[in-house]
Amino acid sequence: MTLIPVPTTAIIVVAAGSGTRLGAAAPKAFIGIDERSVLRHALDGVFAASPAQVIIVAPAGHEGDAETEMRAAAGDRANLGIVVTGGETRQQSVAAGLRALWGDITTVLVHDAARALTPPAQIDAVADAVTAESGVIPALPVINTLKRVAGGDIIEAVDRSELVAAQTPQGFPRSLLEVSYAAARDSGAEYTDDAALFAAAGHPVAHIRGSELAFKITTPADLDRARQLLKRGRASAPLLPRVGVGTDVHAYGGDGELWLAGLQWPGEPALSGHSDGDVVAHAIVDALLGAAGLGDIGEHFGTSHPEYAGAHGDVFLTRTRQILADAGFSIGNVSVQLQANRPRFTARRAEAEVALSAALGGASVSISATTTDRLGFTGRGEGVAVTAVALVVPGTLEQ
Ligand code: CTP
Ligand code: MG
Repeated sequence: MTLIPVPTTAIIVVAAGSGTRLGAAAPKAFIGIDERSVLRHALDGVFAASPAQVIIVAPAGHEGDAETEMRAAAGDRANLGIVVTGGETRQQSVAAGLRALWGDITTVLVHDAARALTPPAQIDAVADAVTAESGVIPALPVINTLKRVAGGDIIEAVDRSELVAAQTPQGFPRSLLEVSYAAARDSGAEYTDDAALFAAAGHPVAHIRGSELAFKITTPADLDRARQLLKRGRASAPLLPRVGVGTDVHAYGGDGELWLAGLQWPGEPALSGHSDGDVVAHAIVDALLGAAGLGDIGEHFGTSHPEYAGAHGDVFLTRTRQILADAGFSIGNVSVQLQANRPRFTARRAEAEVALSAALGGASVSISATTTDRLGFTGRGEGVAVTAVALVVPGTLEQ
C-alpha cells in the first residue's frame, strides 16, 4: 500500500448551486456533459492535480450522488475526499466547506464545479502561487471592446488593458481566508467571489494566467461548448496535432501604402482588399482555422463582418488565436511562403516574423519569399500570392 503524506492544501469544490441559468431538470453539477457529469469532470481535474484534501460542497439531498462521483474520480485517493452540504448562496457553500478543513491544511483553494474542464495544471499553478500573506486567482485578458453604459447611452469606453476576467480555483492562505469569511459573515456582506471577499478584508490578491478551458458552464450555450470540446478531443484521441493549409492572393491596386506580413512598407504599391489586403495574415488565418476545423476567413471576417473593414492583419491574427483557444487549441507553429516580385522581403523578414508571432501570442512564425521566374501573375508583377501551413495542438501549450 502506498502511503500518501497528509496534504497541506485543500480544494473546496463548490457544487451546491441549482443552475437556474442552465435551466435543466437537475442541479447543474449533475447534468451530463458526455457520459460524465459536470461534477465528475471537475473532480477528474481536481484529483489529477497534486494530492490535496478535496471537500465537495453538494446541494442538500444530493450528498450521496456527490459521494459516488467523488469515489469514481478519486481512485485510490478517495480517503482525501469528503462531501458536505451547501448553503443558500455560494458564499455560504464555501463557508460550509471551510468548516470541514483538516487541521494540517495551510492553503485553501476554492473552485467552481461549473468550471468542469479546468486543466489540473491550473489548479497546481494556483496552489504554488499562494503565499502566507496573499491570495492568487487565475485570470484571462479581456478580449472584447467594453463600454460603460447608463440606460440606452454609452457613457465611455473602458480601457480593457486594465481588466482581466477572473476564474477559479482561487487560492488563499487558510488562516487569513477563515478570518475574512468570519468578517463577511458578521457584516452580512455578499461577495461575487472569494478574491473580492478576501480583498475586502484588506488582504492582497495576485493573478496568474488562467486557461480558456476553465470557462464556467452557466448557460446552455456553455454546455454545448463543453460538449464540443470533449467530442473533438475524443475524435482525435490520443490528442494529435493537426495541420492546416491556407492560401491567399491579392492584386496591387489598393489605396494608400502596402501592408504585408503585419508591416507597413512605405513607397510600395498597396494591395486591394476588404481589409488592408495583408495576404500573409489572411493565408495564416485560413491555415489556422483549417487546422482546427473551424471554418475559414470568409466565415469569421468576411464582408458580413463590417467591423473588420480596413483592419490590419494583427487584428485578424489575434482574433483567430482567440477563436482557436475558445475551441481548446493552441498554436504550434506557422510556416509561410510568399511569391512576389516586390517588395524585397528578405531585409525585413525577421521584423515580420516577430510582428506576426506577437499577434499570435508568441507562436513561432517563419516566412520565406520567392519570385516566380517572371511566370504567372506574380511574375508579371500583378499581385502577391501566399501559402501558409499551420500546426495546432489540442490543449494548452506553455509559451
Ligand atoms: N454554488 C454553490 N452554492 C450556491 C450557489 C452556487 O455551491 N448556493 C456553486 C455552483 O454549484 C457553481 C459555482 O458556485 O459550481 C458558481 O456558481 P454559478 O455558476 O452561479 O452556479 P449556479 O448558482 O448553480 O447557477 P445559477 O446562478 O445560474 O443558478
Ligand atoms: Mg449562481
